[in-house]
Amino acid sequence: MQNSYEIIDLKPRLSDFKKDVINGLLSENKWISPKFFYDRTGSELFEEITKLDEYYPTRAELEILKDKASEIGEVIGKDVSLTEFGSGNGKKSVLLAKCLTNPREVILVDISMDALKDALKRFGMECPNIPAKAVCADYTAIDVMSSIKMAGRKAIVFLGSTIGNMEPADQRSFIAGCRKILSDGETFTIGADLKKNPEVIERAYNDSKGITAMFNLNLIARINLEFGTNIPPDAFRHYAFYNSNEGRVEMHLISTRDQSYNVGGITIRFREGESIHTENSYKFSISELKAMLREAGFSETSVWKDSRDLYALITAVA
Ligand code: AVJ
Repeated sequence: MQNSYEIIDLKPRLSDFKKDVINGLLSENKWISPKFFYDRTGSELFEEITKLDEYYPTRAELEILKDKASEIGEVIGKDVSLTEFGSGNGKKSVLLAKCLTNPREVILVDISMDALKDALKRFGMECPNIPAKAVCADYTAIDVMSSIKMAGRKAIVFLGSTIGNMEPADQRSFIAGCRKILSDGETFTIGADLKKNPEVIERAYNDSKGITAMFNLNLIARINLEFGTNIPPDAFRHYAFYNSNEGRVEMHLISTRDQSYNVGGITIRFREGESIHTENSYKFSISELKAMLREAGFSETSVWKDSRDLYALITAVA
């Protein structure tokens, strides 16, 4: 066990689940942020989703990291300090670190302290010779981002198609924020799910085992837990579809009847068929990704795709 690794806690302001949920449920179009999926149960369910036959993004990204390791390593270069925003379970960081020649250090950044501890343990076991540290922070804030010390030549990576959970304006400002902390010649690597046959996409969010439905409905369980409400399990049903106008998967919880609940002292009414919008997952074309990177001030880009052209990894040079 690698207990000697450093964990820096920048104390991400734990967003207030209760306040945010009530705000969202009082809106004209009810919504709950997808960041609230990831309590312990939700994180376990997401891990299960990544193993489903129908859910291709994680597998495709890992395939690229394994099969194109030497090319990726060459583009990112030697002696870098590698920073991964949203390191999750740490599997991607391990594969990436193995792509690199003589990395100086690896910095895992995540908002979840539990995830960071697991990731650091995994990293220490798989890459014992690479110095690593963890930073617990809300990396979407630019001042937080720039306060993370990175020694030597920097390489930033942002994988898992996490960019897809941001709205287009936020995608652009996040990428611009990464560009700002890089010096000329340093690299930014992003992993994103690609636009494709909508049937393939919709299957990935409507798996036959119903795990994605459980993941979505876990928000109701979480509301029950944190507010002490008694919303029965059949009060809402999972609904996910590809919105081709917006280029995104939308996940919703649909009210199965007219019903109302006292949520934190406030009565919230749901009409039969009314939705709570719980997630957008944007899909991209290579040209859209390249255009975003160019706009943010990156020049050359190298693109890698999995064998089925489902998913892309792009390294851009600042
Ligand atoms: C973690 C944002 C990549 O959008 O595909 C999986 C989350 N939602 N199934 C995605 C998710 C439903 C996932 N990301």
